Amino acid sequence: MVVGGAAVPQTAFPGGAISVKGVHKHFLDPQGNTVVALENVNLEIQPGEFICLLGPSGCGKSTLLRLIAGLDVSGQGEVRLDGEEISGPHFSRGLVFQDPTLFPWLTIRKNVAVGLEARGILAAKQHEVDDYIRLVGLEGFENSYPYQLSGGMAQRASLARALVNHPKVLLLDEPLGALDAFTRMQMQDELLRIWEARGTTMVFVTHDIDEAIYLADRVVVMTPRPGKIAQIFEIGIARPRNRSYAGLFEIRARILELLHLVERQKPEYYL
Ligand SMILES: Nc1ncnc2c1ncn2[C@@H]1O[C@H](COP(=O)(O)OP(=O)(O)O)[C@@H](O)[C@H]1O
Ligand SMILES: [Mg+2]
Repeated sequence: MVVGGAAVPQTAFPGGAISVKGVHKHFLDPQGNTVVALENVNLEIQPGEFICLLGPSGCGKSTLLRLIAGLDVSGQGEVRLDGEEISGPHFSRGLVFQDPTLFPWLTIRKNVAVGLEARGILAAKQHEVDDYIRLVGLEGFENSYPYQLSGGMAQRASLARALVNHPKVLLLDEPLGALDAFTRMQMQDELLRIWEARGTTMVFVTHDIDEAIYLADRVVVMTPRPGKIAQIFEIGIARPRNRSYAGLFEIRARILELLHLVERQKPEYYL
């Protein structure tokens, strides 16, 4: 499904490798009790890989993403991008949240340009702002304000805002969670189209199993608190994937079983 229809810029922007080693993270709750959000998390992500982090609410998905983003620091362990320790936010790691977080007083063009402006390179890259607006299917809305866009359109704008910085890694925290089912599927295909053309490493957080198995090369399943990696599922199904393909349902069943959301039903005669 091509909504925008615009060609993805073909310049090569290789994805980065992420290495998470022995990461622990805890917080204090309002009573002063320790909440262990992540316990000994180890994960190696290859350049250009599409990873989905999947797990129930509160299992530490956002915490892990924030550590990779450099928005927080771990208590123990290390997080690296292409071998370099991550010590703070950087435009090479783009972020997209569930809430598009656009500035309401700026037009879409200015919202998309915000990162380039902050880096002082907007004048040289102005043409790319419109390229990326076209890429995500928002041509004609350059001068609109966020309140004039639907949820899906606003999320496209925040995607363009991240991509215009040519990130090596795109970190997406339940980016499609607020969208209706049809827009959501359309956006999943848009995201795959952009990813396939650009090779950006993707770390996509979701609690939707179907979304994870449709999108990912590997699905990293996390357990409830303390957040640990329970198992990593290699999807291994060629794209474009058919959402009704039996092979996907098999993996879905294995993940559900792992998450203990379904109990294996034993026929009575086995009892
Ligand atoms: N800044 C914080 N202060 C205190 N506790 C936090 C903070 N951020 C996250 N937590 C706790 O850490 C756990 C994991 O949170 P989070 O990473 O947001 O989970 P998820 O994204 O998987 O829903 C939760 O129990 C949450 O309450
Ligand atoms: Mg979260």
